[in-house]
Amino acid sequence: PIVPVILSGGSGTRLWPMSTPGMPKQMLSLTDDATMLQLTARRAQGARFTAPIVVANERHADMVEAQLDAVGATAKALILEPVGRNTAPAIALAAIAAGSGAAPLLVMPSDHVIADVAAFHAAIYTALPLVEDGWLVTFGIDPTAPETGYGWIRLGEEISGGVHRVAKFVEKPPLDVAEAMLAAGNHAWNGGIFLFRADAYLAGLAIHAPEILAASQRAMDGARVEGSRLYPDSASFAAAPSDSIDYAVMEKADRVAVVPVSMGWSDLGSWDALHEISDRDQDGNVHASREGGEVIAIDTANCLVRSDGARIAMVGVQDLIVVASGKDILILPRGRSQEVKALIEAMKR
Ligand code: GDD
Ligand code: MG
Repeated sequence: PIVPVILSGGSGTRLWPMSTPGMPKQMLSLTDDATMLQLTARRAQGARFTAPIVVANERHADMVEAQLDAVGATAKALILEPVGRNTAPAIALAAIAAGSGAAPLLVMPSDHVIADVAAFHAAIYTALPLVEDGWLVTFGIDPTAPETGYGWIRLGEEISGGVHRVAKFVEKPPLDVAEAMLAAGNHAWNGGIFLFRADAYLAGLAIHAPEILAASQRAMDGARVEGSRLYPDSASFAAAPSDSIDYAVMEKADRVAVVPVSMGWSDLGSWDALHEISDRDQDGNVHASREGGEVIAIDTANCLVRSDGARIAMVGVQDLIVVASGKDILILPRGRSQEVKALIEAMKR
């Protein structure tokens, strides 16, 4: 069976003020009554999957556990990081915890939308024979914009039905490079979801990022175990260089394959992205009062409005994003939600 590995360590700052360090994006209900974490866990339930290994920051332990229990997806191991060291070390901890090196790991970010789960599963099964043979597999999304925040993949030869060799993996390219790849046509976005044998990933680290492997191994050797909770040794883990799987392994490794898949994927990285993928009313508005805040809007169009308490009343405006959470209110025009990052920086000063 496949071992789901759920990464829940990011903070999702661009979805402020709903997403905060204490309550990051993956713990929120954004597209559904279920939270992003719960939707991720549900995506890998069934006969072909074991219970998940979840890697999260230790401050979120209780919240992660409660959310998973609520959807019957109790983790077989909940690995609690003392500090975030990015995805390469986080996945190393999970690969070591998996025990059996031959186990196929399905590494999933906890904050993505996948509308077509059947297509996702079909892509997984397509990839499985190559994975068993030691390949590192990623899932490719048909690109629609020159995104600089994603990894890009140039498709190589078809290895077997529907699976291509990765000719080149380019993590977070500059805009001109992204534009050229979009125009060229034979490229995909890296979906950030990976499938590989635990030992194949660890072997990749041994060659391309030995310090990450050594620190992660020491952290797990010294881990404290409390039921299904695992606390890696703090000092050892803090010594791991901070790097993503994309830079540390995927860009450099040899036998890397991609399965192009059309599955209604969204990274949901911003309020604009949420407006785009949500059901809109006839005026193009998305009013989410799921959290209980009342929204009254007259003659408004193409707005995203959310509140978890404050009542929001608006007249005669268009193309706005308005989000109220606790004592914070965010207001910006649609199209500029990437700039929330800059706002957070400004608030820190
Ligand atoms: N446990 C843990 N610890 N999880 C982490 C950590 C960490 O230190 N850092 C990040 N994560 C989780 C995040 O919560 C997210 O679910 C996932 O790992 C990916 O991290 P991001 O920080 O969101 O990566 P990214 O968006 O910059 O880039 C990745 O995803 C893109 C698609 O969304 C890359 O894989 C790109 O190539 C890809 O295109
Ligand atoms: Mg991301």
